[in-house]
Parts: sequence; structure tokens; C-alpha cells
Amino acid sequence: MELRDSLVVVTGGASGIGAAMCRRFAAESPRRLVVADRDAVGADAVAAEVRTLGVEAAGWQLDVTDRAATEELIAAVVRDHGGIDLFCANAGIGTGAGIEADDSVWEDAWQVNVHAHVLAARALVPGWVERGRGHLLTTASAAGLLTNLGDAPYSVTKHAAVAFAEWLSITYGDRGVGVSCLCPQGVRTPLLFGSLGDGTLATEVVKAQRILEPEEVAEAVVEGLHDDRFLILPHAEVADYERARATDRDRWLRAMRRLQAQLGGT
Ligand SMILES: NC(=O)c1ccc[n+]([C@@H]2O[C@H](COP(=O)([O-])OP(=O)(O)OC[C@H]3O[C@@H](n4cnc5c(N)ncnc54)[C@H](O)[C@@H]3O)[C@@H](O)[C@H]2O)c1
Repeated sequence: MELRDSLVVVTGGASGIGAAMCRRFAAESPRRLVVADRDAVGADAVAAEVRTLGVEAAGWQLDVTDRAATEELIAAVVRDHGGIDLFCANAGIGTGAGIEADDSVWEDAWQVNVHAHVLAARALVPGWVERGRGHLLTTASAAGLLTNLGDAPYSVTKHAAVAFAEWLSITYGDRGVGVSCLCPQGVRTPLLFGSLGDGTLATEVVKAQRILEPEEVAEAVVEGLHDDRFLILPHAEVADYERARATDRDRWLRAMRRLQAQLGGT
């Protein structure tokens, strides 16, 4: 897809990968960027930064799990600025939890990491089919293709996010709706270096991998969008891991158990 002159919305745009995508998209001269996040101050700050790069931008406070608020954002942007060309469903949360996790932890992960994408697609896709154009970028994770040791809700919901993105691509891909699915491993953001807390298996596992900067991920996103690619893998080695998993599942499971033991997990 063409980012030049496009109208772009990025959820989770106040921080990490979302903020880096906003900054990088700005270099492609979009028509307007909407930085949506439940952190209104952070969203406004990123929008202000984007404006200094000469691109129209606005912050928008949004809880992506709120259906009415998601519909309102999309309707208002379309009404005031025309059709949305690219919607980045990027907001996401980790839990660092296993089977002991409370139901509320599973529910939050489901709402933010998966259901928010359903809410956005429901509000966006009919308009995209009508105008014959529109692109959804789902930020899933390598955890959605493989697993995230030490984080069951994250692994499960990211797999679901990939499944939903694939389903959308299959169902609407011939009607003008483009879908891309971003699946990085570790990226240096507050999600990885802060919110889950040091020392948990989930964070130690990710930190044991090759950590990319958010700017490198944003670069891979721009390339992937330009090529209209479904799978965007900033860590290219994830394609090999996914192939290994598909080729011999038992071997892959044994290797993951070994890795978990090495990293001090149970
Ligand atoms: N950092 C990594 O190693 C890594 C790896 C793979 C995938 N990801 C995914 O990348 C995406 C971005 O994460 P990040 O690493 O930049 O983390 P981050 O914590 O820096 O940014 C996440 C942003 O999402 C926002 N957010 C969370 N819940 C929200 C909600 N309900 N409504 C609106 N906004 C909400 C937060 O306020 C924050 O600004 C997530 O989907 C994450 O799962 C991250």
C-alpha cells in the first residue's frame, strides 16, 4: 500500500512500537496521522512530535476494548478527514502469567490483544469494501506463530490475533481489503523492559533473544506495507522457527522445553 497522502490511525501509538511507527510513517508524507492510546498525554506528545515533522497529526484518547469509543473514533475520522487508508491495531498487553492467572487476566488479554481487532474490523471493513480500499495492520507477535514461554494468555491471544488477521485476509482480500500481520520477537519497549517486571520467565525468555529497537520494527513495517506483504517479520529467523515447528511439532516442543529449563523455568 501507498503511505503517501494516506490517512493513518495507530492504536497504542503513545509508546514503543506504535510511537516508532507514527514517527516513521511521518517520513512517508501521509495526509494525516491519528495517534490513539488510552494514555492521552502520551498520544498527544507523539502527535505533537509528528507535527514537527510537517505532518498533520492529532492525539486521541481511546481504550481499544471500548466498542462505542472505537466506533466513534473511526466515524469521526472518516467524517472529518475522509476514508481511513491504514488502521494499525497495535495496542497490546503481556501478562507474564501461567495457569494460575486469574480469569480477569485472561479476559484483559483477550479484550486488548484480540477482541479490539474484531471491534476495529467491524467498524472499518464495510466502508473499505464499499470504497474498494483499506489496510489493516495487526501487531501480533512471534508468540502468535510460536509461543511465549512463561506467558500463557499472551501466547494464546497472539495466536488468535494472527488467526483473525488471516481470516480477514482470506475473506476480504479480493474485495480491496489488505491485511498485514506484524510478528516481532523482542523489541526494546516499556512492555518488555518494565511492565512485566524483571526476572519473570516471560521477560527473561524474550531478553535472551535478539532485541530490536522499535525504529527497526517500524522500518520493517514500512517495507512490508510497501510490498503488501501479509507477514511482517522484523526478526527474519522467526520464519525458520515457524517452519521447524510446522515440520516436526514434537521435536519443536522438546526444544522449547529445553530452552525453558535453561532459562530457569519449570
Ligand atoms: N516489545 C516487544 O518485545 C513486543 C514483541 C512482539 C509484539 N509486541 C506487541 O507490540 C505491540 C506494542 O507493544 P510495545 O512493545 O510497543 O509496548 P508498549 O507498552 O510500549 O506500548 C503499548 C501501548 O499500548 C497502549 N495500550 C495498552 N492497552 C490499551 C488499551 N486498552 N487501549 C488503548 N491503548 C492501550 C499502552 O498505553 C501503550 O502506549 C503490542 O501489541 C505487543 O504485544 C511487542
